[in-house]
Amino acid sequence: MRSSILKLLREAGKGYVSGEEIAGQLGVSRTAVWKHIQELREAGYDIASHSRSGYSLREAPDLLLPNEIQHGLTTRFIGKNIVHYEEVSSTNIEAKRLAADGAPEGTVVVSEAQNTGRGRMERGFFSPKGKGIWFSVILRPHFLPQEAPKCTLLAAVSVARAMEKFGLKADIKWPNDILYEGKKLVGILTEMNAEMDRINYVVIGTGINVNIMPEDFPEDIRSVATSLAIMKGEKLPRVAFFREVLTALEELYDLARSKGFAPVLDEWRRYTITLGQEVDVIGINERFFGVAADIDTEGALLVDTPEGRRRVLAGDVSIRTKKRT
Ligand code: BTN
Repeated sequence: MRSSILKLLREAGKGYVSGEEIAGQLGVSRTAVWKHIQELREAGYDIASHSRSGYSLREAPDLLLPNEIQHGLTTRFIGKNIVHYEEVSSTNIEAKRLAADGAPEGTVVVSEAQNTGRGRMERGFFSPKGKGIWFSVILRPHFLPQEAPKCTLLAAVSVARAMEKFGLKADIKWPNDILYEGKKLVGILTEMNAEMDRINYVVIGTGINVNIMPEDFPEDIRSVATSLAIMKGEKLPRVAFFREVLTALEELYDLARSKGFAPVLDEWRRYTITLGQEVDVIGINERFFGVAADIDTEGALLVDTPEGRRRVLAGDVSIRTKKRT
């Protein structure tokens, strides 16, 4: 109902639509319309009312509400189903629950805040209210389970493309971080549920620090974390940015399905700062140094060491020469 009212208000542009007309078109009473208008105002919509002319939408909030994101979003399946929270423990946890219950591919879970946002290696992820985009997307790719890391690369390139639309150049650090001046802007946590030979679902959780100011970061991460607003020197519209990310994600996923993963990898290579660098690799049970030579078709990092080339599918990599992390 709320989205139908918003649609009518938007169609009127800066003009007014009477309560009677809305009620008539939607088959509800004028009192019901008034109640929904109140709810929309409480959600942050600035709606003017006039006793004779009715209602007019003055401004929509920059909240990650499904209506707002879907308005002007032209994707076929990513973001067709959006679940929005004011606050949640972790969007990945919610998305996994929905995926296990059969939620369709492309379902997006987004929250204004996370109280136990999670990063890789059981780390926490700072996700303050209204200042970032904390979201998870459910995919059901026909990759083999060992190819799931490709999803992380897809997500990183999607954010990099969105940044480009806003005049910002992304530095992707393998496999899942986007950095600015060596500090973290974006983190990605991909989780999956799979059989031996097929993936049931993948949840790609992405945290984008959008409008976080330096003083907003807890002291222990202030020297290693940054935001798009710090990078750009001004705040960014979260909804518009998010639409670009979802659009790019669908385009890249479609590209991978129609042409294979090579074009996505090529694009990832354009944005990465890892290749060609001396890196320090901390794997699950190992630690070694070498030069990051390339990534392979499964998204693994290939590192040249004095003992030969090693393949890294998961782990922490820091770049040594440029002291970027
Ligand atoms: C990392 O940098 O280690 C990964 C961070 C991933 C954070 C995102 S925010 C949305 C989603 N929900 C979570 O709890 N984590 C991911």
